[in-house]
Amino acid sequence: MGSNRTPSSVPSWASQRLSTVWHELRQALDANPEFADGATVVDAGGGSGGLAVPLAALGHTVVVVDPSPDALAALERRAAESGVAERVSGQQGDLSSLADVVAPGSADVLLCHAVLEVVDDPADGLTAGLEVVRRDGLVSILSANRHAVVVARALSGRFAAAEAALADPDGRAGPADRLLRRFAPDELVALAESVGLTVHSLSGVRVFTDLVAAGALDVDVDARAALERLELAAATDPAFRALATQLHLLGSRR
Ligand SMILES: C[S@@+](CC[C@H](N)C(=O)[O-])C[C@H]1O[C@@H](n2cnc3c(N)ncnc32)[C@H](O)[C@@H]1O
Repeated sequence: MGSNRTPSSVPSWASQRLSTVWHELRQALDANPEFADGATVVDAGGGSGGLAVPLAALGHTVVVVDPSPDALAALERRAAESGVAERVSGQQGDLSSLADVVAPGSADVLLCHAVLEVVDDPADGLTAGLEVVRRDGLVSILSANRHAVVVARALSGRFAAAEAALADPDGRAGPADRLLRRFAPDELVALAESVGLTVHSLSGVRVFTDLVAAGALDVDVDARAALERLELAAATDPAFRALATQLHLLGSRR
């Protein structure tokens, strides 16, 4: 990873929000000749298929497992509208019991994006989720970064919430915070290694994007592409990564 940091074409759904994740995931999938005819992907907590549908459009077969019936209904509509319904399916289920709905060891790839922040126990959840991944299978984890919330709250003038997030061991910005926890880069790596992953890369997602002033992207036609390139260039630099809104970890199951 990291050898080619030129953005691959990002589908419009991803826009600025997930361009780094999309680029890195595509690079990891494209680099593996075993996936040339399509990988079997399980998207745990995949919601309405924002990632599942474009992955299916690349030829992969994706199972989204999510507890929300509404999200799964939206997934079904989105897959049908995009013409990939035959390669996308939804299953109601939970990360902590993924093997109840997906055969153990059957997945080439597991996505666990923006889910570890909301489950009861991230280590137990991830351990259970990994049961469905074959040995050496690819695992992509996206999680909220505890440092970013402090900066975001402070920049929006919510200094007490910033202070709370800075002091809280779970990185929560007070009791009304919708997330149960956030991770520092070393915490996410330690969690991944503790459940049996070999970590290949850790990147910051949206180092700058969420800080850009409204209107800055409309300055000229190249601004969005330039910001994407900037994000990719900075994503693995520890100083910049430390402040990214999210952290993207790629690893494989040992
Ligand atoms: C913030 S959304 C993320 C959706 C998608 N993965 C993404 O990155 O855009 C969190 C998703 O996790 C799902 N979720 C919540 N608790 C879960 C659990 N215990 N196991 C699996 N998914 C869960 C929610 O229903 C929701 O679709």
